[in-house]
Amino acid sequence: MKKLANKTAIITGAASGMGAQHGIRFIEEGAKVVFTDTNKEKGEQVVKKLGKNALFIPHDVSNPKDWKKVVDMTEEKFGPVSILINNAGVAIPNGGTLTLENTEFEGYKKIIEINQFGTLFGMQAVLPSLRKAGGGSIINVSSVGGLLGMFGHYAYNASKFAIRGMTKTAAIELGEENIRVNSVHPGMIETSMIKASIEKNPEIWKDQLKGIPLHRMGKPEEVSSLMVFLASDESSYCTGAEFIIDGGKTCEDK
Ligand SMILES: NC(=O)c1ccc[n+]([C@@H]2O[C@H](COP(=O)([O-])OP(=O)(O)OC[C@H]3O[C@@H](n4cnc5c(N)ncnc54)[C@H](O)[C@@H]3O)[C@@H](O)[C@H]2O)c1
Repeated sequence: MKKLANKTAIITGAASGMGAQHGIRFIEEGAKVVFTDTNKEKGEQVVKKLGKNALFIPHDVSNPKDWKKVVDMTEEKFGPVSILINNAGVAIPNGGTLTLENTEFEGYKKIIEINQFGTLFGMQAVLPSLRKAGGGSIINVSSVGGLLGMFGHYAYNASKFAIRGMTKTAAIELGEENIRVNSVHPGMIETSMIKASIEKNPEIWKDQLKGIPLHRMGKPEEVSSLMVFLASDESSYCTGAEFIIDGGKTCEDK
């Protein structure tokens, strides 16, 4: 039997990058998948070739009303939700960085609203559906930036630490209902998010690669394999944990 047979998943930020790849892989593993994103054009393109087990819903994770619509439509089409990947995330646009003095309120707030509030709203919105499903798995995408400081990324860093914390609090609360909640901490993964930053600061990134024991960036597909494990019953005794997938970047004190 396929690892995600009879499971329904919602994956946010799934019009591109890692989210799109997770959705494609989940369908191969037998899941029914709702892909959500603010980018309607790209999202519709991704699900076009995936058949009847894929649905795209336009969605802004920072808007609680949007979340209700997503969960209602998912239940109507595929039944109760048993997997949520809170994957949507943003950093400073175009690979930028900002020092403490240059960090301004509106830009900071926008990142917190999407990365941090979006994750909270997602967990709140799917809870009744997870209960109907008899339990399930919530996977919150943090970052190595949720474990360590990151030069010039105050809001991103703060939001990813917050995700790590609220994951543990939800795991404590929901464990007795057979709802598992874990955080995933990717390092440098080849997607548009990181490409913009590399183009802007090529020398810095060359040094960064040298500091990774595996000496390369990760591929979205490699993160999808971890997501399948966490979403499936194979991870039945894992909750409240941090899963690092970074080529070894955080293991060395540099
Ligand atoms: N790429 C990396 O190296 C890396 C490292 C650590 C963590 N991450 C995290 O992984 C996740 C996925 O990142 P990615 O690299 O695939 O980036 P990406 O930019 O390719 O994908 C992010 C997606 O989120 C969508 N999005 C943005 N704002 C949204 C909103 N308000 N509502 C819904 N969707 C929204 C975007 O349209 C985009 O499709 C993010 O949470 C990111 O912080 C990425």
